[in-house]
Amino acid sequence: MITASSGRSLLVAGTTLLVAACGAQKTNLANSHLDYCVAQAAKTAAAIPSYDSIPRTIATGKDRWRYVNYRDWTSGFWPGTLWYLYEYTKDTAWKAKAQAFTNTLRPIAFSKAGDHDIGFQLYCSYGNGYRLTGDTAYKSVMLAAADTLATLFNPVAGTILSWPHEVQHLGGHNTIIDNMMNLELLFWAAKNGGGQRLYDMAVQHANTTMKNHFRPDFTSYHVVVYDTITGKVIRQQTHQGYADSTMWARGQAWGIYGYTLMYRETKDTTYRRFAQSVADVWLQRLPQDGIPYWDFQAPDIPRAPKDASAAAITASALLELSTMATDAAKATYYRQQAEALLTALSSNQYQARHQSPAFLLHATGHKPNGSEIDASINYADYYYIEALTRLRQLQEGKR
Ligand code: GLY
Repeated sequence: MITASSGRSLLVAGTTLLVAACGAQKTNLANSHLDYCVAQAAKTAAAIPSYDSIPRTIATGKDRWRYVNYRDWTSGFWPGTLWYLYEYTKDTAWKAKAQAFTNTLRPIAFSKAGDHDIGFQLYCSYGNGYRLTGDTAYKSVMLAAADTLATLFNPVAGTILSWPHEVQHLGGHNTIIDNMMNLELLFWAAKNGGGQRLYDMAVQHANTTMKNHFRPDFTSYHVVVYDTITGKVIRQQTHQGYADSTMWARGQAWGIYGYTLMYRETKDTTYRRFAQSVADVWLQRLPQDGIPYWDFQAPDIPRAPKDASAAAITASALLELSTMATDAAKATYYRQQAEALLTALSSNQYQARHQSPAFLLHATGHKPNGSEIDASINYADYYYIEALTRLRQLQEGKR
């Protein structure tokens, strides 16, 4: 917990950043939306009461964040957003904030693994921090985090256990499609002294998931439950989607991003082809306004809530996929689809500018249990700023 005077300094720094944001140059479309992110984040930063308060959600119609601490699965997204703000502005005030919030997550790397989310928590925070600063202290935390994540790997099932706390309830070793995102931490560690074992684990996880998590039309199940001892598939089901047989919008987005990163890290063209198939079905089934409903088969479409987070994750993944596709028409298609998603997200309907300090409105966290529906959520904002950063780099020929 920080003191009252350091709380005031957070406020002053936030105000300074807001003023700086107003003077930023607008050189292209991505820049103007990044300027918007800077201005919004400055308002968030000014209101945060302590470094143990991570902004997570703003409920529909509200204008204040609900805060969580570093143990929450979303704790890496605010520090990650701060790193992207620093990358864009080069302003050391953002860097200092990014460092401070990143440091609060350190215990996760050195504690018993609670679940697979270590990857989200540490790669978005420390990973971006290391990428931008090369700070060797970050490196040792990330290597420890990868080893901690690796303790959840079951070599018989061939995947990482996503939810240790659900083994009893679900009846076995469980893996969720979201877990594809956490392979990035293992690949990073393998390249940075963590050993081949982590690379092999990531590849085995992705291959097993490719086999068991997808239907013949390339839509994905959210959860696969494996027999912990034999590794055999017991059940394919949903948790956050509408039904076991439907396409949960964010789950499929994690799959698109996950197999895109698999190709980046391995250069195995199987993953590129797979990422394209997983993306194509998601894009083909989008509704008219270009932003998915929380589940593509929600029964109350067109009144069903949207999920802006799924759109932001997919936009970011498609920008990378557009640089990988060997077919020029496909590359153009993914780039245009990513830009269309970002244009829709950047409209008055989806930007939060008149309502709250978040970047985006209309994300859905967990519809079946009634939480975070049609809300602002920190991971929607994180992938939105990541996608804008990637678009800017592409526009400037830096990717
Ligand atoms: N990883 C949890 C979610 O996507 O809601």
